[in-house]
Amino acid sequence: MPWPPDPTLPPPDDIDRIMEVMECAFPPDFGEAWNRRQVSDSLLLGAVQYALIGPDGTIAPKPGDCVGGFYLSRSVLDEEELLLFAIAPEWRRRGLGHTLLIHFIQSARQRGKTRLFLEMRHNNPAAVLYAAHGFQPIGRRPRYYRTLNGDRIDAITQELVIA
Ligand SMILES: CC(C)(COP(=O)(O)OP(=O)(O)OC[C@H]1O[C@@H](n2cnc3c(N)ncnc32)[C@H](O)[C@@H]1OP(=O)(O)O)[C@@H](O)C(=O)NCCC(=O)NCCS
Repeated sequence: MPWPPDPTLPPPDDIDRIMEVMECAFPPDFGEAWNRRQVSDSLLLGAVQYALIGPDGTIAPKPGDCVGGFYLSRSVLDEEELLLFAIAPEWRRRGLGHTLLIHFIQSARQRGKTRLFLEMRHNNPAAVLYAAHGFQPIGRRPRYYRTLNGDRIDAITQELVIA
């Protein structure tokens, strides 16, 4: 590791904790999970940010504490796109997804964003969560995702205007 560490980069420990959730949270069929290189390269871009959540709902749990989920997002001008959003299977259905999504929306609002986007697989149960926070489907990319067995699934673009 380079020394002194670059203060503009997230601690490597956070990347470890993101990857821990990444590796268990995304169903392998759809190829949605990113590898470590993709995550660390994205975080070199100033416009990409992330947040971690602990199993007790704490945002930004302390180094060494357990992490239950994370998101990673990218902003362009007054817009922000949620690129990855995941809660580890063992901590699901306890409201962590709600808490983390609220944090994402509030954090974007505080940074002056007015339109939030995300793209999801058609029929992903996460649609219920996004709808509960006001996201609305605004587009569809036919056959965007390809499953391991070659099936194609549409991508649904969701938007939330927070101006
Ligand atoms: C989607 C995800 C983040 C939800 O996390 P979570 O912590 O379980 O979410 P919450 O407990 O806050 O639940 C929020 C609501 O979403 C809905 N929901 C979440 N998972 C669901 C499921 N498997 N089936 C049906 N509804 C579901 C429910 O309405 C739930 O509220 P309820 O428990 O009061 O009924 C999690 O399942 C996950 O990481 N999935 C894999 C990764 C993924 O698909 N990410 C989204 C990419 S677009």
